[in-house]
Amino acid sequence: MAHEVTGVIARSKGAPVELATVIVPDPGPGEALVRVQACGVCHTDLHYREGGIGGDFPYLLGHEAAGIVEAVGGGVTDVAPGDFVILNWRAVCGQCRACRRGRPWYCFATRNAAQKMTLADGSVLSPALGIGAFAGKTLVAAGQCTKVSPRVRPEVAGLLGCGVMAGLGAALNTGQVSRGDSVAVIGCGGVGCAAVLGARLAGAGTVIGVDIDDRKLAWARELGATDTVNSRAADPVERIRELTGGHGADVVIEAVGRPETYTQAFYARDLAGTVVLVGVPTPDMRLELPLLDVFGRGGQLRSSWYGDCLPDRDFPMLTDLHLRGRLPLEKFVTETIPLDGVEEAFAKMGRGEVLRSVVAF
Ligand SMILES: NC(=O)c1ccc[n+]([C@@H]2O[C@H](COP(=O)([O-])OP(=O)(O)OC[C@H]3O[C@@H](n4cnc5c(N)ncnc54)[C@H](O)[C@@H]3O)[C@@H](O)[C@H]2O)c1
Ligand SMILES: [Zn+2]
Ligand SMILES: [Zn+2]
Repeated sequence: MAHEVTGVIARSKGAPVELATVIVPDPGPGEALVRVQACGVCHTDLHYREGGIGGDFPYLLGHEAAGIVEAVGGGVTDVAPGDFVILNWRAVCGQCRACRRGRPWYCFATRNAAQKMTLADGSVLSPALGIGAFAGKTLVAAGQCTKVSPRVRPEVAGLLGCGVMAGLGAALNTGQVSRGDSVAVIGCGGVGCAAVLGARLAGAGTVIGVDIDDRKLAWARELGATDTVNSRAADPVERIRELTGGHGADVVIEAVGRPETYTQAFYARDLAGTVVLVGVPTPDMRLELPLLDVFGRGGQLRSSWYGDCLPDRDFPMLTDLHLRGRLPLEKFVTETIPLDGVEEAFAKMGRGEVLRSVVAF
């Protein structure tokens, strides 16, 4: 039996998103059907609808979600109907060359549902990041469901499924921020503010938030930034150096995804420091740096895919910290919106009015 639900789709490049009837198959072997309770609006959804990620339209958007497992297919033992789960886009395969080398957070063959969700006319939908959760129900690989405590509110839990995990992990895992480190975060949207929070959780000393919007900087301070810089008003590289004894930060996290902000990150770090790129660039972007500076400044230039997280390790740990009052994830939820509010949420994101809009079902 297939399920008919309403979902938010991007039909063609650049066109506003629209509501459509989505046909969701019953779960087959290794799959799970999830009734979505909440799904955050991430900048990556907007990248999809603008054609910045690929051309496989129509897309079923939404990928920062939590919900209840409604049914599972054959061979599924890790989750069962009734479980409260966060959806993830890193269901590790255990067999690819990254997994075999003991680095499953890089898994190159992550699992998604084998069956396709479609529109009523049969056209196959591409679910954003293999999830597609701006819909009443979605079909995923069972490994994409991570069971967590049902005491966490779905609007809050879902955010760990993408942006907040990406930011926390950029600091904790990829950047390996440690006690006393100085950290700068360029771009303090949902992802960047989560990187600020991650740096604080790791015991960083100075944590500098950089953005072009004062509202974002106020949120960054609320989440633990010790200093903030509006890069429209001051040169962020100079300010970060001033705030770190003239040297630059130990770890600089770029959470915008543009060559100019990457260049700022590159020069705002101390010698032998670390740059973490978590912002997602578009295919047309180019970076030009003197190769001598790449050599001479040393250190590590890293990219962070999904915060180098392992969902089954990290989601329960982070929700536990949240329930103990040590991780204020609720501060990321600026507003809850209905399913037909996604296009307006993109506009609010563009105007800098929200950290996260979350669709509540
Ligand atoms: N690597 C990953 O796994 C991963 C996961 C999720 C999202 N992302 C990416 O992270 C980026 C941020 O996502 P988000 O949801 O926080 O988006 P967002 O739109 O909420 O935040 C972007 C922030 O950057 C700021 N900004 C824009 N131009 C700037 C500039 N020149 N200097 C300083 N700040 C500037 C904006 O004011 C805004 O606060 C996006 O590119 C998104 O696709 C990456
Ligand atoms: Zn793998
Ligand atoms: Zn996302």
